[in-house]
Amino acid sequence: MSVNVDTIPTNAPAEAPEDLVAWVEEIAALTKPASIYWCDGSVEERDRLYGEMVAAGTLIPLNPELRPGSYLARSKPSDVARVESRTFICSEREIDAGPTNNWRAPDEMRATLNEVFDGSMRGRTMYVIPFSMGPLGGTISRLGVEVSDSPYVVVNMRIMTRIGTPALELIAETGDWVPAVHSVGYPLVDADGNERPDTTWPCNDDKYICHFPETREIWSYGSGYGGNALLGKKCYALRIASVLARDEGWLAEHMLILKITGPSGRVYHVTGAFPSACGKTNLAMLRPTVPGMKAETIGDDIAWMRPGPDGRLYAINPEAGFFGVAPGTSLKTNPTALQSLDHDTIFTNVALTPDGDIWWEGMTDEKPAHLVDWQGNDWTPASTTPAAHPNSRFTVRADQASSIADNWDDPAGVPIDVILFGGRRATNIPLISEAYDWEHGVFVGATVASEQTAAAEGAVGSLRRDPFAMLPFCGYNMADYWSHWLEVGKALGDKAPKIFQVNWFRKDDDGRFLWPGFGDNSRPIEWALRRVYGEVEARDGISGRIPILDDLDTDGLDIDEATLVKLFSYDTEAWSAEADVTEDYFRQFGEQAPSELFGQLDQLRQRIADA
Ligand code: GTP
Ligand code: SPV
Ligand code: MN
Repeated sequence: MSVNVDTIPTNAPAEAPEDLVAWVEEIAALTKPASIYWCDGSVEERDRLYGEMVAAGTLIPLNPELRPGSYLARSKPSDVARVESRTFICSEREIDAGPTNNWRAPDEMRATLNEVFDGSMRGRTMYVIPFSMGPLGGTISRLGVEVSDSPYVVVNMRIMTRIGTPALELIAETGDWVPAVHSVGYPLVDADGNERPDTTWPCNDDKYICHFPETREIWSYGSGYGGNALLGKKCYALRIASVLARDEGWLAEHMLILKITGPSGRVYHVTGAFPSACGKTNLAMLRPTVPGMKAETIGDDIAWMRPGPDGRLYAINPEAGFFGVAPGTSLKTNPTALQSLDHDTIFTNVALTPDGDIWWEGMTDEKPAHLVDWQGNDWTPASTTPAAHPNSRFTVRADQASSIADNWDDPAGVPIDVILFGGRRATNIPLISEAYDWEHGVFVGATVASEQTAAAEGAVGSLRRDPFAMLPFCGYNMADYWSHWLEVGKALGDKAPKIFQVNWFRKDDDGRFLWPGFGDNSRPIEWALRRVYGEVEARDGISGRIPILDDLDTDGLDIDEATLVKLFSYDTEAWSAEADVTEDYFRQFGEQAPSELFGQLDQLRQRIADA
């Protein structure tokens, strides 16, 4: 039977505004679903979808005694991470995408999308998901609507954002929303009406993750995984929002947000940009080893920041949940995260234990004797492949973390005192250094580099530049983004947060981490907070101001003087080589690269020469 789209009821609820209904009808006419369903965001709706996905084999219910309300999903091996090579910025001018993004002309991409989306939802339900990024009705918050043929996307979006009727009502009230179209690209019926059975993880080998910055639209085809499919996250809250932020004078960043209360009771807020799988979730759930210091979570992946009425920079977490890296999460490394996963969690691509619980590499010292791996195969410690995929993830509501701050969803946001830039660097970058000023801080952010992780396709371990941890997430020319940061700094003036560079990942010659990391990261951060109020002196270094070693709190830490010295040592030859690489890197942006960054490079070379 071939589907006549005119006969599909739109099923729009009474509160849906006309322009939204018209758009939904337009997308349905293109994708030709069997039915249209508007999500209200209720628990009943969620439980019905869970039930349907369990029946279809897409979700495996976990043992309700060990992990109540929780499920395991297994993706196709070809659909396990963001696909940067298939992510496109479709601006009118190529220069506005810049050399670090894949660009396609909007007309050309629209023609392609019209082809691949034609009939892509045949035989499926098209879900309409109204959502809010940020607290409902907040002045910094933004609205969107994702249509998707994946119920897995619906239940994940329900955790990661605020979906359903309240968001729809705000959309009707404000008229301001970003449209986002998603299809897994696996229709169950072809154009001739021939049917085929579904698979437990439908997707397509052909993938397109497209952004139209001028018209503020998102189109994603072929993947059901994470940032490719949960379109509120990277596509909206970073790629489209970075464009909105440029136009409106604010910042949309790949940053965690942490609230810290010092021994004196003084409260600070810290944001930190670290590339994917480089420790944002861990730092967001920090358990400080510095006595009297308390840390609470506000966000673990994305920060939207704007100057507030008092001229300071205020941040909100636009998300409502965590889509966190599972491997390496343990009672030792991140007990807060592990405990938050006790119930009502969706796990994707982790291993299954015989008693219906989950496991991943690094969760326990001893590996279980028998597991079913992330691909559904039997696994024992003798197996040569990992039981959980290296980019396996958990989806959990933010307020399930015991560390969540009581003001984490304050629509006004929190005032930021400190901005951290980090990455995985085995060499060169000291444990912590303070930028000389905002402009130097922008240079530090622009030169962030990190070893490639499993969060994106590609060779894990190789060093890549990841400016501001935004390389895959900036919706416009990266060089213009640097200029925007310089502008924001000028507007903030002396109210601007202080900028620091950190590196938990420096290694010795034998490849061992020099720094214990995790809870002990509170020690260099504590030094940074003292710097904010001028409570401690610093010495000049090549990368910025560094601590006088005695000022770094190392009480109770098993670390010798030589290791501490190494954590702050500069190899001038290696730094000269890095400066040359930086120059080449900036040059690829041509005239777009702000001259201030070349000025900063000159100053860096001078400091290297003087060292
Ligand atoms: P995305 O969600 O991909 O944006 O990543 P993220 O930055 O939130 O990454 P996450 O916090 O989940 O960190 C991933 C990996 O970094 C885990 O394997 C952690 O064990 C490891 N990690 C985090 N903090 C530290 C640290 O201080 N030291 C060391 N050695 N490893 C760390
Ligand atoms: C990242 O890769 O930075 C993530 C995971 O946070 S995803 O949402 O899949 O992009
Ligand atoms: Mn991320």
